[in-house]
Amino acid sequence: MEVLGRPEVVLEGIDHKIHDDPAAYRATVAQIKYDTNSLGALVTTHKLDLFAAAEDMFDYFDRYAQVTRELSSISKRDGRLEGHAKDPITAGLSLEHIIEPGYFARTGGHILCLGAGGSALATLLHLIHKPDKADRPERFIAVNRSEERLTHMRHMVAQYDTDINMEYLVNSDPRQNDALMAALPEGSIVINATGMGKDTPGSPITDDGLFPLNSIAWEFNYRGELDFMHQAQRQVESRNVRVEDGWVYFVHGWSQVVGQVLHIEITPELFRRLDEAAATTR
Ligand SMILES: NC(=O)c1ccc[n+]([C@@H]2O[C@H](COP(=O)([O-])OP(=O)(O)OC[C@H]3O[C@@H](n4cnc5c(N)ncnc54)[C@H](OP(=O)(O)O)[C@@H]3O)[C@@H](O)[C@H]2O)c1
Repeated sequence: MEVLGRPEVVLEGIDHKIHDDPAAYRATVAQIKYDTNSLGALVTTHKLDLFAAAEDMFDYFDRYAQVTRELSSISKRDGRLEGHAKDPITAGLSLEHIIEPGYFARTGGHILCLGAGGSALATLLHLIHKPDKADRPERFIAVNRSEERLTHMRHMVAQYDTDINMEYLVNSDPRQNDALMAALPEGSIVINATGMGKDTPGSPITDDGLFPLNSIAWEFNYRGELDFMHQAQRQVESRNVRVEDGWVYFVHGWSQVVGQVLHIEITPELFRRLDEAAATTR
């Protein structure tokens, strides 16, 4: 808040149970809506549930919130309550931090995304919207434990005319994920968006799984056991794997939402200063 020039603004947490009672979500939204001292909120785990419970209480949703039916940002403008889904923007900014323009045309790499929840969906939406074909992978394989998330992803993709070849696989067997990795071209990006290694123990691949040569392993988390990340780190030299974690994603996520709530544009210079401040607490 000091970096943003608003030191008087304090951050306060509101805890909800996973899949909380809709009335509890509505009470939280009501507090923000009617209390002039509550400026807005960043929503984590409850993005889909909160949207479903309180959709009618909002006066505006951005396009991404409408398409994904989730929201990560609650803010106010001229007395209106607004909901934004910032994840496609923040996942995109994070990916752009990792790869340079034209990456997919240069490498011919594909994307294997293990986990098809909110963050996977956000990454895919970002890629679908890239105007230059060189910035879109030829193929995006989404793997998820249950069918439901893949169906949601399929419905979302159907709303766009995309040339990315989509593959949807229901699987939670790490050996099958190893086989999928082995079949990827060089330069591909393998994402751990399952939460395994932080939210649940383990990794979606086995210790024997080989990353493609010259590939990128992107672990969406930055804390926890991070087994997937450690597996990838063991192949940095032997297979020239570049390993990225979720720290930049995290800093973009927070700065985009706080910027929306306070109506401050997060310029690259401001982001650099926020990133610096965040690094001191890492
Ligand atoms: N660094 C950051 O700022 C940042 C930002 C966003 C997310 N993340 C992290 O990224 C992870 C994913 O976030 P999210 O919002 O996408 O969560 P999410 O919506 O809960 O999605 C996780 C998905 O992974 C699936 N899954 C779990 N274990 C699996 C396995 N073994 N094989 C295949 N699929 C599996 C789940 O399937 P089911 O449908 O069966 O449950 C679920 O659909 C979380 O740990 C989160 O903390 C970090």
